[in-house]
Amino acid sequence: MEKLIIKGPGRIRGSLTVSGSKNTALMLMSGALLAPGRTRLTNVPLLRDVSTFSQVLRVVGADVRVDETTGAIDIDASNLTSCEAPYELVKKMRASFYMLGTLLGRFGQARVSLPGGCAWGPRPVDLHLAGLKALGAEIELDHGYVVAKAKGGRLTGGAFRFEKSSVGATANVMLAAVLARGTTCLDNVAIEPDVIELGLSLVKMGARIEGLGTHSLEIEGVDALTATELENCPDRIELGTFMIAAAMAGAPGEPVRINRGRPDQLGDAFAQALLDTGATIEFADDHVLVEAPDQLRATSIVTGVYPGFPTDLQAQWVVMLTQATGTATVRDPIYPDRFAHIPELVRLGATAGVSGDSATISGPTPLTGANVMSTDLRASVSLLMAGIVATGETHVLRVYHLDRGYERIEEKLKKAGVNIRRERYDEFAQPVPHLFER
Ligand code: UD1
Repeated sequence: MEKLIIKGPGRIRGSLTVSGSKNTALMLMSGALLAPGRTRLTNVPLLRDVSTFSQVLRVVGADVRVDETTGAIDIDASNLTSCEAPYELVKKMRASFYMLGTLLGRFGQARVSLPGGCAWGPRPVDLHLAGLKALGAEIELDHGYVVAKAKGGRLTGGAFRFEKSSVGATANVMLAAVLARGTTCLDNVAIEPDVIELGLSLVKMGARIEGLGTHSLEIEGVDALTATELENCPDRIELGTFMIAAAMAGAPGEPVRINRGRPDQLGDAFAQALLDTGATIEFADDHVLVEAPDQLRATSIVTGVYPGFPTDLQAQWVVMLTQATGTATVRDPIYPDRFAHIPELVRLGATAGVSGDSATISGPTPLTGANVMSTDLRASVSLLMAGIVATGETHVLRVYHLDRGYERIEEKLKKAGVNIRRERYDEFAQPVPHLFER
């Protein structure tokens, strides 16, 4: 396995550049399956999740070619041969569940493994299934698989209200609805930028969608979509991660320049909270400047649906709070169990605890390096950030979590002055017994 070793305390100086969005890329890759022909996606990050999802597309018969030099992916969905997304792939990545809406929309049938829970607790799919049923699908569960069939071979469209705002369920139902025979009216849809980007791309392929950007969509199904070239947007979570890192580990008086992000996609709550810490933010057309204050102020946040504070930035915020003056709470009602990073941060010296869906963090506390490990992507990046401000070496183990969602992160941080390197290690190696050595 591989780990990242950060020698701190360090400073982030100069600039960082944001890659293409992971979450949006996965939605657009699903969308590409709806059109026979070759879809070219540009600005796709070369990440483990993208290669896993490429495998999912290949399993159903798509020809997927990744150009590693340009970050473009060509997906030819002319000759799809299967309507099944197997457990072995879906278990690796929840986004594979988008195959349900996609295959159901294009072929009127699909067999997709249920994704199960994840490291931060149950992640239900009831809304995905209820939405697809409202569009005319008959759904059965069979040995861990969702087996879906459109009555009469093609979805009819229909009306559905999402009881709870869900990014994943909205995307899945949209993917199914664009090729239905009739009209679909969706209410309380998620308006996260990923969903809007998916909608805009589907429209570019010939879909008829009214209301993008609002909580109600009217989708008039069309007979076919046309493969075309689609540009992926920058990763808003990577942008937010870099902004928090700059506020925490940048040098006062030396703003960090973050290139290629789309700050409008972060939502107002995030920018306001970052300003409340005392950080300075300057937005320009093609970059953002973030300047660390002399001393960060503890600032509480609550995660929420867009434009609320993103749950995917909660762990990074917690790390910053260890360096801020005062006590603050971080509440995550979207995913109340998503606090695996707290015990690891405590091992580095943080004063923090969890109660219910909230963490309380007091600071500033000096952190000291140690071996740390996490079980999910955003928690891993938060530990890496802790390593930047901690004294000594922090070894972030099981770095494959990070590789799922942050493209070449150590290269980017190294260029910005962080002392970081990647090493292989054997997780099951026995520690050397020193006690009885002569
Ligand atoms: C969520 C985030 C998304 C983030 C992703 C990965 C929100 C609103 N969504 O998306 O920005 O990128 O995690 O970290 O912040 N739910 C149900 N039934 C369902 C589907 C969802 O009850 O069928 C619940 C979930 O348990 C959760 C809430 O609805 O409490 C939002 O879920 P959803 O937006 O679907 O989550 P993801 O798509 O995983």
